[in-house]
Amino acid sequence: MVFCWVLLANCKVDYSYKLYNHLIFQELGIPGPSPNFLFGNLLDLWGKKGFHDIYQIWNKMYGKIFGYFEGPSPILVTSDPDFIQEVFVKQFQRFHARKVSDPEKDERVHMFFAMGDRWRRLRSVVSPAFSSKKMREMTPEINKTIDGLLNTITECKGKSVDFLCLFQRLTLDAIVHCAFGLDSQAVNDDKEPFLTHCRGVIEDTTKQPLLYLCGYRGEVYAVLVRNIKLTQVNCINFFISIQLQSRKNDLVQLLINARINNINDPMFNINGKNLSDQEIVQQMLLFLLAGYETTSTSLSYIFHELANNPDIQDKLRTEIIQHYPKEDDQPSYENVRYLKYLDWVVKETLRKYPLASVIVARKCMETCVVNGLTIPKGMVIQADLWSLHRDNDVWGEGDMELFNPERFSPENSAKLHPCAWCPFGAGPRMCAGLRFAVLEIKMTIAVLLKKFRFTPAADHRLEMSEGATISPKYGVRLNAELLMSQKVS
Ligand code: HEM
Repeated sequence: MVFCWVLLANCKVDYSYKLYNHLIFQELGIPGPSPNFLFGNLLDLWGKKGFHDIYQIWNKMYGKIFGYFEGPSPILVTSDPDFIQEVFVKQFQRFHARKVSDPEKDERVHMFFAMGDRWRRLRSVVSPAFSSKKMREMTPEINKTIDGLLNTITECKGKSVDFLCLFQRLTLDAIVHCAFGLDSQAVNDDKEPFLTHCRGVIEDTTKQPLLYLCGYRGEVYAVLVRNIKLTQVNCINFFISIQLQSRKNDLVQLLINARINNINDPMFNINGKNLSDQEIVQQMLLFLLAGYETTSTSLSYIFHELANNPDIQDKLRTEIIQHYPKEDDQPSYENVRYLKYLDWVVKETLRKYPLASVIVARKCMETCVVNGLTIPKGMVIQADLWSLHRDNDVWGEGDMELFNPERFSPENSAKLHPCAWCPFGAGPRMCAGLRFAVLEIKMTIAVLLKKFRFTPAADHRLEMSEGATISPKYGVRLNAELLMSQKVS
């Protein structure tokens, strides 16, 4: 009871202090929608549209830099590439934390939420898992998984299939095989236990309205986020136990090598590379989630665009067949890099659908000046990637809704701002799994396009839903026709 009163009193003080902040954008001369006394601008954001839609509407009304409030907390939103470069890259030391970060010494938090030295230590342990050597070693595992998917698609015999679901099964197997050295069979079995757990976990992490409401009080938010993460950990406990039995030289082995038994070890919070058991569990959970959701959603947008742009699909298939003319030619880390048009298609899809834009944000850790604006400590800077990726000032004239891979030709790329294209974020905290994701995506396209022609199914319609990522609400329903050269005579 006493605790409740202390908490309430604390919230009150905190809230009245924060209310003052509702004037902050006015004082800084930054435009934006008027906040409601109690909710800030959250009521607008909780409407039918997602954050990325509302940001685009506000971008048109207020320009490339505007401010709004999530309850009492000020959020500065920007699609100005110079501003993004300054915050995410050049002044990273002052913006090293995410929108929601946990205390530096809490060991039950993974790299995504960690900040400062703790984040640096976790990232440096994990980075070698994505070296060129590791990518090369992962290639056969990825090919094996794609082969499983090929069989599943062939069995569908050209009927309408939800490719988002199929790609979720593929990316889950790929991350489980490559990062954890385990065999999961999701591509062959829709009832695979990992898959069921992962879907549940994703649902948990996308309970945004509740979480944002709790954002009124940072600590409550953090406790809730942590509880959700602990539930997730319980879900995957069964496979953690298998982990420690038969080890290969994979991501988990790297984590185990950096293991310590005692959280009080002086190495825990300095520049050493040690990890506690809880930290290992949390990193595994992070890789499972990050590796599964983002990559499958990217693949489904790519195939949606290819199915709706048959000329581009044919052009890409021609490039693929030129590079892999024989029946048993397989893509690898080495050879997939030479497929230039494939690279443009992937980049153009992620331009049009920066599906993880919501997480590209930083908290200011020390009052400083960015491009002439004073940013106070504690303010969150949110990148508005959907506006940035559609901005004619950044990309030149033309219809930005048009799917046009030529935007990434060497001549056109040379003219782009270094922060014009940020689907993986920017600066030292950009996506740690980028190389793995791009490799897996390119290998999958190379194999699938060689075998099948994709067309939109009669019941396919693309509508987006916003959660941890922005994903196709009703999946991506396509028909996959086996190409003549692949049919057995
Ligand atoms: C196409 C697929 C993917 C996309 C679009 C994507 C996008 C992102 C974005 C936007 C961020 C935030 C970056 C920032 O704040 O600047 C991020 C962070 C991260 N991603 Fe990915 N990601 C993808 C795949 C993966 C995969 C496959 C893994 C791991 C196997 C992964 C692991 C991570 C990690 C660990 C972080 C946190 C990095 C840090 O805080 O230091 N991602 N990702």
